[in-house]
Amino acid sequence: MRLLVTGGAGFIGSNFVRWTRESRPEVSMTVLDSFTYAAQGMNLEVDGWLAANGDHVSVVVGDIRDRTLVDSLVAVHDVVIHFAAESHNDASLENPSEFVDTNVNGTLSVLEAVRAHGKRLHHISTDEVFGDLSLDAPAFTHSSPYRPSSPYSASKASADLLVGAWVRSFGVRATVSICSNNYGPFQHVEKFIPRQITELLAGRVPRIYGTGANVRDWIAVDDHSSALWRIIDAGQIGRTYLVGTHNERSNLEVVAALLEVFGRPAGDIEFVRDRTGHDVRYALDTSLIFDDLGWRPAPRSFRRELESLVSWYADHEAWWREAKTTSEERYRRLGH
Ligand code: NAD
Ligand code: DAU
Repeated sequence: MRLLVTGGAGFIGSNFVRWTRESRPEVSMTVLDSFTYAAQGMNLEVDGWLAANGDHVSVVVGDIRDRTLVDSLVAVHDVVIHFAAESHNDASLENPSEFVDTNVNGTLSVLEAVRAHGKRLHHISTDEVFGDLSLDAPAFTHSSPYRPSSPYSASKASADLLVGAWVRSFGVRATVSICSNNYGPFQHVEKFIPRQITELLAGRVPRIYGTGANVRDWIAVDDHSSALWRIIDAGQIGRTYLVGTHNERSNLEVVAALLEVFGRPAGDIEFVRDRTGHDVRYALDTSLIFDDLGWRPAPRSFRRELESLVSWYADHEAWWREAKTTSEERYRRLGH
């Protein structure tokens, strides 16, 4: 199988590429990525990985909005998996146009290419398309309405709607997955868990938006990659699969666990300005992927996962140092 991976240099895309190399040696991959600030430090090159796997993985530096480029790449691959996006909520509040342009027009470009060449597409989406869930409400299901809150989630919701329309109107062979919050190595330091780990490594304190009562369902990025392969292998065309692990934690709980790992006092927290339009909670009903596709996340202890993530960030400072400076400058400007 020849697989085209858009956004394959980002956090989840690069995990998927590495994961695929280990578990599917027969698959050859092309990464298409424009290397925005989010593809920090050439993820795939860290520890000599790309050099060691260059016979099976090639990298094209290019933009998903470049229709000619995308068309020519899709033509010579069997399956496209579409991760490329602007992905950070706080950034979308500062610069919404870039999010609409990349996430909507970029997805349109991918859809037009798979339509022209009759290729299979898997599109990556997010639980944020459903918007806000109160702390005691049942999880989002397939029939929950799309009610995105931020420019980021609205642009992802728009992209999903385009995929659905291309399946229905043009018979494009596509599936969609909606996943919860990922954690793992190579996540950009602007995101919640890496930001707090790198603050603690520097001897500073974690920064909590608002009261810290907001809840996210944390999934290991390896589990996301395994779910994606299950959908590529056995997913039903036109279906949207909800991918989560029922590992719901408030932001305060996550920070409390990190403080314990570092042996720091429980009160070492700074409460900062809340995010505008901050969604209280996300949670997903995963019965379709659990029951129909038989997928399950690997058994894990979240606490032990955080411990190994702390070690990973401590060992890879060269990878995140420069991005950390830029990211913290932006957070200072935003009052976060
Ligand atoms: P990321 O920001 O780490 O990576 C995005 C990648 O896309 C980067 O490598 C970037 O260079 C690339 N990219 C951006 N604009 C591009 C363009 N115009 N052309 C080509 N490449 C471009 O994001 P991530 O966290 O790895 O998320 C990947 C996907 O998964 C996104 O679609 C996101 O919406 C979705 N998602 C993320 C999470 C999460 O917790 N991080 C959860 C659910 C879904
Ligand atoms: O739910 C899936 C989504 O998860 C993905 O679609 C997004 O691409 C991804 O960025 C993530 O979005 P969130 O907004 O949930 O993630 P973030 O890491 O930005 O924040 C997680 C929670 O932590 C959120 O409630 C905001 C809060 N937060 C974040 C930062 C950076 C803090 O309290 N302090 C912080 O310093």
